[in-house]
Amino acid sequence: MSDSPPTAPVVRPGILDIAPYVGGESKIPGVNRIIKLASNESALGPSPKAIEALKAHAELMHRYPDGNAVELRHVLGRHFGLDAERILVGNGSDELISLLVRAYAGPGDEVLYSRHGFLMYAISAKGVGATPVDAPERDFTADVDALLAAVTERTKLVFLANPNNPTGTCLPASELRRLHAGLPPHVVLAIDAAYAEFVEGEDYDPGIELVLASDNTVMLRTFSKLYALGGMRVGWAFCPPGIADALNRLRGPFNVSAAGQVAAVAALEDVEHARRSLAHNRKWRDWSTAEFTRLGLTVIPSQGNFLLVRFPDEAARNADAGFEFLKLRGIIARKMGGYHLGHSLRITIGTEEEMRLTASALADFLGSR
Ligand SMILES: Cc1ncc(COP(=O)(O)O)c(C=O)c1O
Repeated sequence: MSDSPPTAPVVRPGILDIAPYVGGESKIPGVNRIIKLASNESALGPSPKAIEALKAHAELMHRYPDGNAVELRHVLGRHFGLDAERILVGNGSDELISLLVRAYAGPGDEVLYSRHGFLMYAISAKGVGATPVDAPERDFTADVDALLAAVTERTKLVFLANPNNPTGTCLPASELRRLHAGLPPHVVLAIDAAYAEFVEGEDYDPGIELVLASDNTVMLRTFSKLYALGGMRVGWAFCPPGIADALNRLRGPFNVSAAGQVAAVAALEDVEHARRSLAHNRKWRDWSTAEFTRLGLTVIPSQGNFLLVRFPDEAARNADAGFEFLKLRGIIARKMGGYHLGHSLRITIGTEEEMRLTASALADFLGSR
């Protein structure tokens, strides 16, 4: 082997193993009216107050944002009854996932999550040269025993999306406590509650209880779902002081734009709009679950703003064929091969008209009117 230096830049090990994240499609050539149900965006769109706040801020776009996002963190603190000092905002919760992995894992370490867990956990792990490890699920739901059984001395972080995207399933607070109790205290438990606002049911904790009771649990939240600010890129984390300190050192000084900060404050304060969006989601999630089931599809009961819909196995009626058929009607769903769920499509809850058109297209596809 020659000792001569490389003749081109050499990317670090692991980076080229990353299958780039493929977002939902948003265009179909030749189709003017698109029904985009591919990215779990809000059916009703953003709060008019957030739009106004953004417009009012436009003339100040030459100014750098507040690097400490003081107002946003304090508004979040008041809204959720949390200490603002322990809140950190990020360029979407995606950035917070990546910061956590960069802060706590490196080459040779393991980052654990459940089999159908959100793809960014594996992508972030590979980005730092760590090994992503997935634990089996039971009934498309994270399995605490399987997660604990997969912990090794190399495990540095465990990510649990609760509810999970793309399955829509959720663990009760008692299971979260059991997961936390079984982890060594040096392992970070990141509870990704991107869809927390949509959950119904008594025994649910987005993670706050555990963050308050321990030094190794973080709760991640986002403005991209119920608050409909996906394009603004604003997420937040509620952390123990030690973890907040580490992430604050690592993050960019202006990681959330000024536009994102003002829009997020206004969106959070528009309680009425959030309530309307939630009621809409509940109504059309229930309706779509019933309709798709009536057509012969298998729908996992969802706690999010989307449904995981299983298609028949035969080639003419499978998920890929369904995806293409919907596309011909201008409807974009999300393929699930990347999540080991190639037999299913994920369909976001859209407007009433969008859901009626989707159900009607699926009925035509399946020939089951
Ligand atoms: C479970 C989960 N976590 C995190 C995110 C990232 O959200 P964002 O970066 O828009 O805040 C998503 C987005 O779909 C998600 O589904």
